[in-house]
Amino acid sequence: MTRRQVVALGGSLLRPEEAEQRTAWFGQLRQLAVHIEGNGRHLGIVVGGGLPAREGIELAKSMVSNSARLDEVGIAATRLNATIIQQIFLDIGCDVAPIIPTTTEQAAKLLDAHHLVVMGGTTPGHTTDAVAVGFARDAGAGHCIIATNVSHVFDKDPREHEDAKSFSTMTFDELASITGIGKPLSPGASAVIDPVAVGWAQNSAITLAVLDGRDTSILEQALDGKPFEGTLIQ
Ligand code: UTP
Repeated sequence: MTRRQVVALGGSLLRPEEAEQRTAWFGQLRQLAVHIEGNGRHLGIVVGGGLPAREGIELAKSMVSNSARLDEVGIAATRLNATIIQQIFLDIGCDVAPIIPTTTEQAAKLLDAHHLVVMGGTTPGHTTDAVAVGFARDAGAGHCIIATNVSHVFDKDPREHEDAKSFSTMTFDELASITGIGKPLSPGASAVIDPVAVGWAQNSAITLAVLDGRDTSILEQALDGKPFEGTLIQ
């Protein structure tokens, strides 16, 4: 079987502060897709909702109290972002699945037929981190990369605590003691990794790699199986 890999791309990566950085990042991501396809590899990309998810959920919150309904707003945003990435790849003729799958089983089947599959969320109750773990499991990938906007998993939030300690490797139990495990986040809430994803990865023995997706060279190193800057959880 050809090598399959799955990456969760945090939605915040699509909207850096500077518009120039955004264009450069999209270009580097596209180069990476060309590199993967050129090597005959297959890559699933699960895109987060970022700004449109937060804005949409905030807007709906004044009228909608049911958290599953708010999750549906978030899911719609993740699919919007997934469509942006899919169209960026299609625009230069990459072999990317022409639809945005709505389940991880469907995504895994599409990955048999295409070098690239881009998707967003699936159902309420988790984030795209968990979708990526489910996709990795269904595609027989064994690993799942979580590309986010921090360099590592830290023992506490590095934006608030100067003395936060980063991990280069850790166990699932160590990760779970920081993130929690299994319990869904509230709609639109953010965490370094979704506790539902941590539980699914541990149950399915999927190794997780957390790294800074703003620098696509780090993502490329991890995808190429080289040592990378970030946190490996197994
Ligand atoms: P994200 O996966 O974008 O969450 O889903 P996030 O942790 O904020 O990730 P970043 O910041 O984009 O990387 C946004 C929201 O969409 C809903 C949830 O409400 C989540 O908080 N969602 C997403 C689901 O309910 N199910 C899904 O499969 C995906």
